[in-house]
Amino acid sequence: MQSSYILSGGLVIDPANGVETQRDVAIHAGTIVPADSVAGADVIDVNGLAITPGLIDLHVHLRDPGQTHKEDLVTGTRAAAAGGFTCVVAMPNTSPPVDCPAVLEDILSRAGTGGVVRVLQTATLSVGRAGAQLTDAGGLKAAGAIALTDDGSCLQSAGLMLSALEAARDAGLPVIEHCEDESVSRRGVMNAGATAASLGVAGQPHISEDLIVARDIVLAQATGWGVHMQHISTAGAVDLVRWAQSCGIPVTAEAAPHHLCLTELACADFGADAKMNPPLRRAADRDAVVRGLQDGTICALATDHAPHSADEKAGGLRGGPFGIIGLEAALPICLTELHHSGVLGLSDFIAKFTVGPRAVLKLPYGTLSPGCPADVTILDLDREHVLDVSSFHSRSRNCPYDGRRCRGKVVGTIVEGKPVFSELPQLVSEGIA
Ligand code: DOR
Ligand code: ZN
Repeated sequence: MQSSYILSGGLVIDPANGVETQRDVAIHAGTIVPADSVAGADVIDVNGLAITPGLIDLHVHLRDPGQTHKEDLVTGTRAAAAGGFTCVVAMPNTSPPVDCPAVLEDILSRAGTGGVVRVLQTATLSVGRAGAQLTDAGGLKAAGAIALTDDGSCLQSAGLMLSALEAARDAGLPVIEHCEDESVSRRGVMNAGATAASLGVAGQPHISEDLIVARDIVLAQATGWGVHMQHISTAGAVDLVRWAQSCGIPVTAEAAPHHLCLTELACADFGADAKMNPPLRRAADRDAVVRGLQDGTICALATDHAPHSADEKAGGLRGGPFGIIGLEAALPICLTELHHSGVLGLSDFIAKFTVGPRAVLKLPYGTLSPGCPADVTILDLDREHVLDVSSFHSRSRNCPYDGRRCRGKVVGTIVEGKPVFSELPQLVSEGIA
C-alpha cells in the first residue's frame, strides 16, 4: 500500500462535519488530507460502498491479561477490525485487574505491538475492584489510562463514589459506570418478572440499575464531574439521564446492541448466550432505550463484547457467566435492526459509533476532517448475508445471533492509513485476511 491513496466514489458519511454525500477521501502518511492535495496517488474505487470514520467501541472486554483462553489482545483486536472498529476501549476487569500503572503499561505496550486496532485502556476505580479503597487516579492517568470504571460491578458506597469523582476530577480522568445496586440485584441471573418466574430462575429488578443512575446523577451534579453511564437498559435509566441532561448535569449514556435488538424472552431460547449484565429487559424497556437513542439521550452504541469459554457457558442461565461477544455482530445486527428498520437515519446511526464516543472521551478519532488520523471503515450497506459465528475472529463463541439474516456488512477497516481488514480485492489488508 502506497503512503498516499484516494478512496474514490463512495458515499461518505461523516456526521461530525454534517457530510452525507458521494465524494473522495484522500489519505497521506496515515492522515486524512484534502482530496486535491495528493496528485498522482493510487485511486481505489469504492463506488457503491459507504465510507465512514473508523468506528469506536466504548466497551469491550479483551480478557488480557489473565483470561486469554477467552480472548487476548491479538484475537480481540482482530475481531474488532473484522467488525469495522478502528478503536476499542478495553475494560479493566482483567486478572489481575488494571488497578496500577504496571498492569496498564504492560497492556498498552503489548497492544501497541500485537494489536491491529487502537486499544484505549481503562483502569479501575477501586483497588482490586473490591470497592473499598480508591486507586491512584493521577498515577493511572500519567500511565495512560483513558477513563476509570469498576465495570462488571460498581462502587456500592455513595461516599466512596463521591470521593472517586473528586479524585477523577482533580486528575482530569473521565468516569464511566456500570450501574447496579447489588443489594437489589442480589444474585439475579436475568431480568426479574414473569419470564424469570416461568424459567424458574432468580431475577434482578430494573430498579437496581435505576438507583445507581439516580445516585450518580446527584453525585455528578454535586462534584461538577461527568459520569458516563454504561450499557443502560431500563426505561427508568433513560428517563433519569434525559432529565439530568435537560438540567445541564454532565452525564452521558451508551446502549448495547443486545438491549436494543433482544428482550428477556431470548433467555428462554438462548439460555446462557442471552445472559448478560445488565440483563435483557422487557419490550417496554427496549422501546424506551430505542427512543433514548433516537432523541439523543443515548449518544453511543457500545458492544460490551464479553467473551467467555464454552465450558463456562455450559453452566447455563443459572450458572454460566454474564456476557456475549459483540464486535463482529454489532454492525450487521444494528444496521438491520436500527437503520434499515427505520429507527435511525444513516448519519445518526454512524454518529452513535463515531461522534458520540468521540465526545464522551474527548478522542481525536471519529471524524474524517483533514488532519485527523486516517481511521476509516468501509461498509456495504445493503449486502444481505447470514451471520456465521464459527467464522468470527474472536476466540469465543458465546453469541445468540448465529444464523441471523442481516442486511449490511463491514468490508474494509483502515487504521492510520493501513488497511487491517478487507474483503475488497482493490484494498489489500496488511492486518488480517
Ligand atoms: O455481561 C457482562 N459481562 N456484563 C458485565 O458487566 C461484565 C461482563 C464481563 O466481564 O463478562
Ligand atoms: Zn458492565
